[in-house]
Amino acid sequence: MSFDKLESMERGGGILGQILRDLKTKTTVGMTTKNLDDMTRRLCLKYGVKPSFLGYQNYPAAICVSINDEVVHGIPNERQLVNGDIISLDLGVYFQGYHTDAAITFSLGEVPLQTKRLLEITKEALMIGINEAIVGNTIGDIGFAIQNYTEKNGFNVVRSLVGHSISKNIHEDPLIPNFGQRGSGQLIKEGMTLAIEPMVTMGEYDVYQDDDGWTYKTSDGSIAAHFEHTIYVTDKKPLILTK
Ligand code: MF3
Ligand code: CO
Repeated sequence: MSFDKLESMERGGGILGQILRDLKTKTTVGMTTKNLDDMTRRLCLKYGVKPSFLGYQNYPAAICVSINDEVVHGIPNERQLVNGDIISLDLGVYFQGYHTDAAITFSLGEVPLQTKRLLEITKEALMIGINEAIVGNTIGDIGFAIQNYTEKNGFNVVRSLVGHSISKNIHEDPLIPNFGQRGSGQLIKEGMTLAIEPMVTMGEYDVYQDDDGWTYKTSDGSIAAHFEHTIYVTDKKPLILTK
């Protein structure tokens, strides 16, 4: 049986958005990132979706949880969340033959104003990038808009990690950098499904991979934020599938 791409990704993406909301609501001081992974696995079962990341290139968990200077791909472990932590949750789900991918970042308890700004600017940078995903634009227009907005607001975008196309596979071409030149790269076409995911740092944009083989951290130890949606390109405004 074959499913309609848009319908399946809308349904899978809707569930993904709901799971991220559930997880955010239930995140509290003292719980471990492993607790979040356990909750994710339960929620995926409850909603009838498969966690896309589990087993992908031997990734050992259902979700990526990245805290403070960790940018992305944090593996859930026994680390306990504390007041003031900046928590990024990145989740992919597989439903009716298609993947969707999304990420949110939020803070636990009170954080400095500049931290709140980092989260707001990153979220807004994602929306500004999404608005560029229209027929007639190129992939480079997305990255240009994200970089321009982020840097204007005093933050930096990570270069060595990028967004990607997504449908039957979690990572497909074309890739979607969060930086670049207006008009560069492939033309954007109707029906493309893109995972746009700015990773923004408070300090320099350089990152390195931790000894665990997965977690990316900022080289200068500054905090980072990550927001991601999977979208569907139409002849008008793009549809956000992971609301
Ligand atoms: N959302 C991540 C990305 O697009 C996927 C994580 S890869 C995994 O890069 F292996 F951790 F699952
Ligand atoms: Co992604």
